[in-house]
Amino acid sequence: MTSIKKSDSFIDRLVSSESFPFSAEELEAAAKEKISTEAFGYTRSGAGGEETLRKNITSFEKYAIVPKYLNDVSVADTSIELFGHTYAHPFLLAPVGMLKITHEDAEIAVSKAAATYDVPFIQSTVSSYSIEEVAAASGKSPKWFQLYWSNNENISYSMVKRAEEAGYEAIVLTIDTFMFGWREEDMRNRFSPLREGYGKANYITDNVFLSTLAHDDHESVIQEILQNIYHPTLNWKHVAELKKRTSLPILLKGVLHPADARVAMESGVDGIIVSNHGGRQLDGVISSIDALSSIAEEVGGAIPVLLDSGIRRGADVVKALALGADAVLYGRPYVYGLAIDGQTGVEKVLSNFIQETKISLALSGASSVKAARNIQVVKQ
Ligand code: FNR
Ligand code: LAC
Repeated sequence: MTSIKKSDSFIDRLVSSESFPFSAEELEAAAKEKISTEAFGYTRSGAGGEETLRKNITSFEKYAIVPKYLNDVSVADTSIELFGHTYAHPFLLAPVGMLKITHEDAEIAVSKAAATYDVPFIQSTVSSYSIEEVAAASGKSPKWFQLYWSNNENISYSMVKRAEEAGYEAIVLTIDTFMFGWREEDMRNRFSPLREGYGKANYITDNVFLSTLAHDDHESVIQEILQNIYHPTLNWKHVAELKKRTSLPILLKGVLHPADARVAMESGVDGIIVSNHGGRQLDGVISSIDALSSIAEEVGGAIPVLLDSGIRRGADVVKALALGADAVLYGRPYVYGLAIDGQTGVEKVLSNFIQETKISLALSGASSVKAARNIQVVKQ
């Protein structure tokens, strides 16, 4: 339980008069000044004509919160419970790969910042530091592992086992990126961080992966990663097999169709992440906030439903919770914080987002995340 203290109000922040950017737009602009055109382009952009990237933001504007007052919201419980773990806030950090293009300290900086605020960090398969390095840096702070399937299934199982042994609390299988989307910004910049080796840390520390290599020079390693990460054969049988191989809860990330949510439940999946990968995969797909209600309805509370793609503000969190999400993932804005000032930058972004979320819940009339589920949201 946390109290909404007077010091939580933005007025006290004015006194501290920091010049760090607040809004996602300002963060993006400041990050652009700090990192290479290629790295910024990779982070900001979406697939195709970026229709879905834009819709992820504008779709939130169609939903309006109808607040209720006189509820005494002085004490707010912003915590959530997922798979037997209690987390302090209703959001986690989305898996973002290859963070070394943004800052040398990459996932180490992000996971330490997340630990400062008790926010779970979801580490990408294609991260710049390994599972074990991130675990060592962030101590007991909660972590989940995002899995990109490998064609050599034993590599997938090996990485999952490593995550289990390193104390990660859930596995997020991303289902929408069995091949990369059509990303024109990266083609324009002739930039592939995967090819340049920014996403290899978990592979070159994996005994099963290493045992499949004929040669261990850079090019052979990269080719082997590319061979494994392109996996259009991924199907429900793999999900069932993965389920047998781990005791950790499995979430599917990238669900947009209620029928997939139904099959996921029938396959024993433990949670769903409604997501369009931040508009980076198939351009033209539905925004995730628009996909949420029908999926939440299909799931009917049987398993947790999380959401990402377009979460920028505290009010977005309230809208997602009210429309049926149990929690959300926060993505690009924290990466911009990393670009601006490493761990400190991520901490500032998180601190503001946490405060804005708390204030937004309170001003909606909710004194807990559970209560936020009953907030009325209308489409305008
Ligand atoms: C991603 N995302 C992602 N997802 C995933 O499952 N594994 C990954 O390695 C990555 N890598 C990645 C890199 C970059 C630069 C971005 C911006 C995103 C997708 C991410 O988890 C999340 O779904 C989106 O970032 C959500 O969109 P917004 O809210 O960040 O716009
Ligand atoms: C991306 C991959 C790494 O979206 O998921 O760039």
